[in-house]
Amino acid sequence: MADTKSHPLVFILAGAFVSYILYTRITLYRSRQRFIAAHNCKPCEHTFNKDPILGLDVLRASTINHKKGTILEANRQRFFRFKSYTFRSRVITQPLIITAEPENIKTILSLKFKDYSFGQRKVSFKPLLGDGIFNADGERWANSRHLLRPNFAREQVADLDAFERHFKLMLKHIPRDGSTFDLQELFFRLTIDTATEFLFNHSTNSLRMMDQDDSNEDTIFAKAFTVAQADVIKRSRYGVFNMFRKGSEGRDAIRICHEYVDKWVDDAVQWREDADAKIKSGKALEKDDERYVFIRELAKQTNDKQRIRDELINILLAGRDTTASLLSNMFFEITKQPAIWAKLRDEVAQLGGRTPTYEELRNLKYLKWCMNESLRMHPVVPANSRFAIRDTVLPLGGGPSGTSPLFVPRGTIVGYSTYSMHRRPDLYGADSTTYKPERWESRRPGWEYLPFNGGPRICLGQQYALTEAGYVTVRLVQEFATLESRDAGPWVESLTLTVCSANGTKVGLGAAS
Ligand code: HEM
Ligand SMILES: *[C@@H]1O[C@H](CO)[C@@H](O)[C@H](O)[C@H]1NC(C)=O
Ligand SMILES: *[C@@H]1O[C@H](CO)[C@@H](O)[C@H](O)[C@H]1NC(C)=O
Ligand SMILES: *[C@@H]1O[C@H](CO)[C@@H](O)[C@H](O)[C@H]1NC(C)=O
Repeated sequence: MADTKSHPLVFILAGAFVSYILYTRITLYRSRQRFIAAHNCKPCEHTFNKDPILGLDVLRASTINHKKGTILEANRQRFFRFKSYTFRSRVITQPLIITAEPENIKTILSLKFKDYSFGQRKVSFKPLLGDGIFNADGERWANSRHLLRPNFAREQVADLDAFERHFKLMLKHIPRDGSTFDLQELFFRLTIDTATEFLFNHSTNSLRMMDQDDSNEDTIFAKAFTVAQADVIKRSRYGVFNMFRKGSEGRDAIRICHEYVDKWVDDAVQWREDADAKIKSGKALEKDDERYVFIRELAKQTNDKQRIRDELINILLAGRDTTASLLSNMFFEITKQPAIWAKLRDEVAQLGGRTPTYEELRNLKYLKWCMNESLRMHPVVPANSRFAIRDTVLPLGGGPSGTSPLFVPRGTIVGYSTYSMHRRPDLYGADSTTYKPERWESRRPGWEYLPFNGGPRICLGQQYALTEAGYVTVRLVQEFATLESRDAGPWVESLTLTVCSANGTKVGLGAAS
């Protein structure tokens, strides 16, 4: 029962509460004004009310652009319309800053790394990725990075024998009479086969099984992994509306993936317990025990099985579509310019028909330019974002010309478009939308080129990816004298977390004599 005497107290409390809120608001406002003045920040004058960037789209716009394959290009055009490479936007109540300025990206990823986290996006990916490296922030991320990093040392990454074995299986599916086929499909199979072997010492062998029935567990896993990946992307696109999404296909696929990987984790942890026992009882380890296996290295460092599984699934996600997309985008461009294939053949001729060693591979300059140029025009991770966890500042984007510093209030999502940055005419010249490997002859590396990210979270698999893509390209060059495009149209984007060619890479290859 309400006591009439308590009313004044309620009013006093409410009054105190309101004053407190006002007080904190005003102090916050004042301290922000001081911060803004101290950093010379000017407001960002370019704004766009619908959301422009991958994964953050207003549902409907996203669906339309996605179908047309024009998300990246539409975003790039916005920078031109604003005549500024930084603009702001808002989705419902979430403030966004979108940028394609090298200096801003360097600030987010490196100089002020500690001012940002991944933010909300972690929630959508958690059902598949758990707290693995790709989905963790702060201490947890640092710990994962520390755990995984040694596994990407050169010796492990340079297992060219494994690439050769899987390449030979791929070769079996390539018609040698010049008839049309889709290289992209084969590249996607090749990379899941090599990545699973690298991680689990057990390949999905999807190239070997291609013409067989698909009821074996490796094939079921490979398919489930694709479905699971699509499902978590949908979760991030739907955001809070995800709970209204119907169907259990995604959830089932995630379960299948976890169970499949759990088996290899169990084996690895068992192996480690056996090895420990052998050492304890003074028995010698066998040769096989000494061999390097990624999953076993993790089992040596932790016996937390879920942890090992999470990390492996994260690396598989990070490493599978990316390398395949680099290859298929690059071949799509090369097929359009026969002179490039001829130059590659000239360069590879110095190997005298032998398969390359790791050192030889690294010394093929034109091949490297071709890969750099593909990752420039078609960065396979074309857009990315971070979430400001405290008030901070970007060096560019403020004022009418976007050349003053810009205040970033805590809680802002800062998105960056590597795709748009890589095609800036002021950075790459008037021919910035042309595939031209020769431009790399005179370029120096800097923040305007960022296919693998930069700063503390730079891609761990860069060497692995470039070695695999380079090796496969050299071997195709050695096997085939001619390469012809069988797709008259332009390259069309197919965008998920990564971007590949919507129409595949349709080619005809003519065998070398
Ligand atoms: C052409 C191929 C590849 C490209 C363009 C690429 C690009 C990237 C990018 C842009 C990131 C940063 C993501 C972010 O912080 O938001 C990243 C992170 C990562 N990549 Fe790659 N990647 C490629 C291949 C690979 C491969 C083959 C592997 C492993 C075998 C791999 C493992 C990783 C890992 C573990 C991270 C997380 C690093 C961290 O957060 O500390 N990547 N990659
Ligand atoms: C890896 O797999 C191969 C083929 O299945 C097997 O012969 C080998 O013993 C395995 N090696 C290790 C270290 O697990
Ligand atoms: C070409 O790409 C490689 C790998 O991403 C990079 O290390 C190198 O710096 C690039 N070249 C230039 C000139 O940026
Ligand atoms: C390429 O893809 C686009 C969109 O998916 C489609 O409209 C077009 O017909 C395709 N072109 C070819 C040559 O298949």
